[in-house]
Amino acid sequence: MTATDSSNPAVVFPRHVAIIMDGNGRWAKQRGKSRTHGHRAGASAVRKAVAFARRNGIEALTLFAFSSENWGRPAQEVSVLMELFMSVLKREVPQLKKNGVRLKVVGDISRFSDRLQDRIRQAEAQTAEGQELVLSIAANYGGRWDIVNAAKELAAQVHAGELEVADIDESSFERQLCLADLPAPDLLIRTGGDIRISNFLLWQLAYAELYFADILWPDFDDHAFAEAIDAFVRRERRFGLTSEQRQELLAGG
Ligand code: IPE
Ligand code: IPE
Ligand code: MG
Repeated sequence: MTATDSSNPAVVFPRHVAIIMDGNGRWAKQRGKSRTHGHRAGASAVRKAVAFARRNGIEALTLFAFSSENWGRPAQEVSVLMELFMSVLKREVPQLKKNGVRLKVVGDISRFSDRLQDRIRQAEAQTAEGQELVLSIAANYGGRWDIVNAAKELAAQVHAGELEVADIDESSFERQLCLADLPAPDLLIRTGGDIRISNFLLWQLAYAELYFADILWPDFDDHAFAEAIDAFVRRERRFGLTSEQRQELLAGG
């Protein structure tokens, strides 16, 4: 894949895109249908987004599918979402495998049924060889949970005498977080019109470009994805430096 447009070194494409897929319920409501109907339509939009990412050389796509706060929704909606997750995993794995997509589920999966946990592990194992795209599905994920979990892990290592407190720094902390094996997300897209993070990747998004679109998730198609990428390539990412310093760095490779 090419991370940069060779005709213009200043144009840098995102390697890792994260998406808060929001608006399924409103999409269904606009059509006089149940929220469940919206979630099913949302699953089709996921398939399209994965194909777009692959075709466009994006290395990693991380999708927020179910937050730790979404357990608070009506029981019927939660159970439909779980069933949908099960059936989508079952149905899509052969295609993902064929297309070289490596699937990973990030989040606290211990709260899911044993059946669903098994299905997740199977899907991960079956796609483990994928080299084209890493697809991470954030399920029962919360950014605060992720950070607390990392802190617990480091504390356990200190307790076991494997790590000195003085050796805890940003990199050792980061290694314990979800997505540690991937480059940090370059671009965060949120559909559905709300301008918030909703406890998604709190640490990992520190320097991501944020892009908010009114389009509801089931309507998110190649055109909408391309618009987000276009907006991204027009941004100047400075990472705390001056604009001149960044230009020099980019020109010098
Ligand atoms: C996003 O769509 C999907 C999940 C959170 C599971 P919503 O279900 O939040 O849709 P809206 O925001 O109510 O329209
Ligand atoms: C964020 O959407 C979570 C997912 C897309 C899975 P929500 O619909 O749960 O977010 P809020 O409640 O509007 O912040
Ligand atoms: Mg929502």
